[in-house]
Amino acid sequence: MGLDGIDLDTVPRHVACVMDGNGRWAQRRGLPRTDGHAAGEEALFDTVKGALELGIEWLTVYAFSTENWKRPVDEVRYLVGFNESILVRRCDELDDLGVRIRFSGRRDWRVPKRLTRRMDASADQTRRNRALTLTIAFNYGGRAEIVDAVRAVVAEGVRPDKIDEKAIRRHLYDAEMPDPDLMVRTSGEHRISNFLLWQLAYSELVFTDVLWPDFRREHLQDAVREYQRRERRFGGVDRR
Ligand code: FPP
Repeated sequence: MGLDGIDLDTVPRHVACVMDGNGRWAQRRGLPRTDGHAAGEEALFDTVKGALELGIEWLTVYAFSTENWKRPVDEVRYLVGFNESILVRRCDELDDLGVRIRFSGRRDWRVPKRLTRRMDASADQTRRNRALTLTIAFNYGGRAEIVDAVRAVVAEGVRPDKIDEKAIRRHLYDAEMPDPDLMVRTSGEHRISNFLLWQLAYSELVFTDVLWPDFRREHLQDAVREYQRRERRFGGVDRR
């Protein structure tokens, strides 16, 4: 089917993805959960390429939540190391594709210095790219982001009656990031799970049963078709 049925003039500008189901994918194959995360790398890169083909400008993926520290210590260690190794192994490839890499999340004591150094180096290397901005949400929580933004506004000395939505938005982790038009969650779970709580206020939400390691650009295209069907229904109401 390819890009058939997709109107390239109205693709979502920003797509956010909850990459869920890695553990179940592995368990179904009798493999350790970490093999599911490893298989998720291919899914992520195919999704990036699919986003580039469609002309999506921003892609934000949930790589590690503020709640994920509660997982078994071996899995946490694996996920932290895996995020770092992906950046080491694939930063040049993303750079060649014109991808600007950014990060969103709390930089607290739990995030190892080695990883933050690598994040900063990848963001710096790719900062001039504009084909696609890939934001990796690491140690990210939507409530924590809002709390951090409110703290920053208060620290500026803004009077309570002057605190408004604009003031909070200015202090989100990435003030330049547009709100997602579309959020896709894999693995059949129908939840937001503390992802981009502020930014998803008006986004279209698409859920698929596909487990993240099986997700490919075709599934992204399906989600965009679904998004455009919903958009067109809106148009129908307007014309009546
Ligand atoms: C959720 O699946 C997935 C994660 C907590 C990690 C997502 C990370 C990747 C896909 C790795 C590639 C991406 C980057 C940017 C390094 P789960 O473990 O909750 O699965 P389950 O719900 O089946 O247990």
